[in-house]
Amino acid sequence: MCGIVGYIGPKKALPILISSLERLEYRGYDSSGIACISEKGDRGVYTIKEQGKLGRLKSKLNGALLDGHVGIGHTRWATHGEPSERNAHPHQDCSKKFALVHNGIIENYAELKHELQRKGHHFRSETDTEVAVHLIEEYFERCRNVFEAFQKAVIRMQGFFAFVLTTSHDPDAIYVFKRSNPLVIGVGNGENFVASDAPAILSYTNRMIYLDDNEMARVTADRTEVFRLGEKNPRRKPVVRIKWNMRQAEKDGFPHFMLKEIHEQPQVVDTILKERLRGNRIFFDSISKKTEKRLSRISKIHLVSCGTAYHAGLVGKYMLSECARLPVDASVSSEFRYEDPVVDERDLVIFITQSGETADTLAALRAAKEKKAFTLAIVNVVGSTIAREADCVIYTHAGPEIGVASTKAYLAQLTVLALFALYLGKLRGKLSSGQMREYINWLLKLPRQIEETLRQDKAVKQCARKLYTKRNFLYLGRGYNFPNALEGALKLKEITYAHAHGYAAGEMKHGPIALIDSEQPVICISPAAKTYEKMISNIQEIEARKGIVVSVATVGDQTIKKLSRFLFLIPETKEMLSSILAVIPLQLFAYYVAVFNKRDVDQPRNLAKSVTVE
Ligand code: F6R
Repeated sequence: MCGIVGYIGPKKALPILISSLERLEYRGYDSSGIACISEKGDRGVYTIKEQGKLGRLKSKLNGALLDGHVGIGHTRWATHGEPSERNAHPHQDCSKKFALVHNGIIENYAELKHELQRKGHHFRSETDTEVAVHLIEEYFERCRNVFEAFQKAVIRMQGFFAFVLTTSHDPDAIYVFKRSNPLVIGVGNGENFVASDAPAILSYTNRMIYLDDNEMARVTADRTEVFRLGEKNPRRKPVVRIKWNMRQAEKDGFPHFMLKEIHEQPQVVDTILKERLRGNRIFFDSISKKTEKRLSRISKIHLVSCGTAYHAGLVGKYMLSECARLPVDASVSSEFRYEDPVVDERDLVIFITQSGETADTLAALRAAKEKKAFTLAIVNVVGSTIAREADCVIYTHAGPEIGVASTKAYLAQLTVLALFALYLGKLRGKLSSGQMREYINWLLKLPRQIEETLRQDKAVKQCARKLYTKRNFLYLGRGYNFPNALEGALKLKEITYAHAHGYAAGEMKHGPIALIDSEQPVICISPAAKTYEKMISNIQEIEARKGIVVSVATVGDQTIKKLSRFLFLIPETKEMLSSILAVIPLQLFAYYVAVFNKRDVDQPRNLAKSVTVE
């Protein structure tokens, strides 16, 4: 989704804005733009915008008069109005004294636009954003105070947004506002930064101020004053030091972030285990004694999330049922939020999200809180909105995930869910110490086993080379690996643009079997499991119809070897942990099919990393 950056300080703003925007490219965008306060003459606001990738904007910038020390920048992912230079941000008012960038949606923009047009404002774009900047101009004409005008304008707007404003009426400040959409202020020495995402400015500072909803700030080179909407006195905000480093946000010799992130998975899981395991005890620093008491009394669990995180939720459902012996539901956030869910104070609702900013998941969290449920967030991005709003948060600490297709964040979510399921099982007296020890012994083997699974890379690549021209793929799995069938298919769709469908293998006879002929690849995820024999029957049925069987199986499985055209092996593990290993060949398969098709692996078309609009 849209990316926002801003700079104010002694250095030239332009190179900083460009490099920060480059770091936001992974979020997905279709146009970009920059506005700077000029150093000369009137200290006016100058903007340059361009459709397409940042390279095009950079060529256009050559020779432009953007020499200032104060500026804002934006990458746009179109919502209102086609991707074009005209609709790109920053947008300006009639007098061109203000420039504004925006992430989110102004829901009442049509009505405000009519009102402003009646007052004589002239609009240049089809965006909702332009309404905001004209509204600020309108109020400024009356009060001649930027802060007041900005505040008044924000109060009139409905929806969810993050705004960053620069103006020649106050050229030594940047104004920002946040409601639902992410925005951080990076604190430097005699300089300050603004971004929609901390990694964008991480090479300049690791000290961040996270704004809460309905907070606005006036940021100068050496000061940040944060106000709650409608209040006159600034509030104290903590400065949070984030631990991610720049190397984690670089490709480090890999051709793509996605491949790098797939290869980081042994380390990610190892870090989680080291952090959460103390002998045979599972330890979550964020779970207090009081929380533990509440958790011991819950009667139902709901897992709520989107996309890949939803697939993690589905795996979590099996894990929590197995270990905690409670009724568990898994829902996609966009359904949960609107279905008037039956939850109350005895329920635990778990929100799983890499970014911590997904609009539907955030709305679902607020709906669950309204119903007094206990809310737990499993989040990767530290300080994100969902992490701050949930009653309790468990961080996955997978490091920055830059590839749009989620890989290491998924594995981290599965690992945390396994640990949490065991923790809850023990807390509720459903698991004996012996059982805990057995699960933990298998967990501890995972980092090495993930490394071993990654050695299937060559076999997967060869298979992808043979199948990359196919346009339809079917993925089948059962139990813990049914969600992996969905996840494998999602990965393939996202980055190769081929059609792929994930199914519970037991459903094959109820429809998808009609697809099977000698052209149809079917990826059968069949590690050792209680439904193993059933998977064998499914594979035989595919074989009998000459389908192309690609299997993921446990090392040493001769039966599946004989039945499969292509085979990817994973080490032996406990069934509950098998999805953590079995998804790895599926990630690699999607990756290589995309590479052979010359797709933009890290920034697939139409997709955004952090889905901050509904
Ligand atoms: C798929 C993918 C998306 C996200 C989904 C939720 O590879 O990345 O499906 O999983 O948009 O995002 P988060 O986890 O940030 O809530």
